[in-house]
Amino acid sequence: MSSSEIETILDAAASFKKSKAPKDLAGRFLAFLFSEPSTRTRTSFEVAARNLSAEVLGFSTASSSLLKGESLLDTIKNLEAMGVEYFVVRNEVSGVLEPLAGQTSASLINAGDGAHEHPTQALLDIFTLREKKGAIKGLKVVIVGDIAHSRVARSNIHGLTKLGAKVTVCGPRALVPSGIEKLGASVSHDLDNALQGADAVNVLRLQLERQEQNLVTSLPDYYQSFGLTPERLAKVPDCVVLHPGPMNRGVEISSEVADGPQSAILEQVANGVLVRMAVLSLIQQWRTHGR
Ligand code: CP
Repeated sequence: MSSSEIETILDAAASFKKSKAPKDLAGRFLAFLFSEPSTRTRTSFEVAARNLSAEVLGFSTASSSLLKGESLLDTIKNLEAMGVEYFVVRNEVSGVLEPLAGQTSASLINAGDGAHEHPTQALLDIFTLREKKGAIKGLKVVIVGDIAHSRVARSNIHGLTKLGAKVTVCGPRALVPSGIEKLGASVSHDLDNALQGADAVNVLRLQLERQEQNLVTSLPDYYQSFGLTPERLAKVPDCVVLHPGPMNRGVEISSEVADGPQSAILEQVANGVLVRMAVLSLIQQWRTHGR
C-alpha cells in the first residue's frame, strides 16, 4: 500500500470512532479461514464485520474439507460459489495469498501469513501511535524481540517507514535476520541503547513455535537483556509501550510495564476493531466503485 492508502485507512478508522457504524456490508457474506490460533485478530474482525452489518459465517477450517486434502483455493472458490465475498485468512505459509488473489473475485484479507506479514496489526499499531503522538513522521520506534519470526515486525517496518518514522529493530543476534536493514530499519542488539530517545517501543514475544532450535540461551537471560522492565522504561518517560499480543509476562515484558501508565496495549485492541472496520468498508467501496 502507498502512504496515502495507509492514511485513508487510518482516517476512516478515526471517523468510525466518532460516528455510528454504517451498514456498509449489509447482506454481504464473510468467512474466516484460520489455520493458526488467534484470540485478537479473529474476534476483532468478527466484531468489525458485525458492526458493519455483514453476515459472518461460522465456517471452521478445523471441521472443513481442508482436512481431507482440499486446497485453500478450491475451498475459497466453493464458498465464493455460495455467495461469500470476503475471506479473512490466517495461514502458516508465508505469501500464501498473493498467488490466490488473481484466481478469485472474492476479497482475501491477510490476517497473518507465516513469518511474512500481518498488515492489519501494523495498521492498528500505527493508528494507536498516531492517536498518542499526533503524527507518525519523525517518530523513533523501537521493535524489540523475535524479529526473525515476526510478521508484525515486517508489516510495521513497511508501514512506519512509509509514513516517515525511523524504525530500529532490536534483539539477540540469532533473532534479527541479516538483511533486515534493506527494509529500512536500523539494527541494535542493546535494548538500553536502542531505547534512548524512543517515542514508542513495540514489544514482540518469542515465537518458540516457529523456532526449529533454541535461539535464546534461557528465558531469564533473555528477560535480563531484552525484557521491557520498569527500570528500562523509566529512562524514557514519554515512550509509548505497544504489544500485539499474546503477551508472555516476565519473558519479554514485565506486568508492571504491561499494565502501567505508558502502556497502550488494550487501546491497540480497541482500535483494532475500528481499523478492521475501515479495511472492510474501504474494500466494499473498491468492490463497488473501483479502486
Ligand atoms: N496480535 C495477534 O495477531 O493476536 P492473535 O494471534 O491473538 O490474533
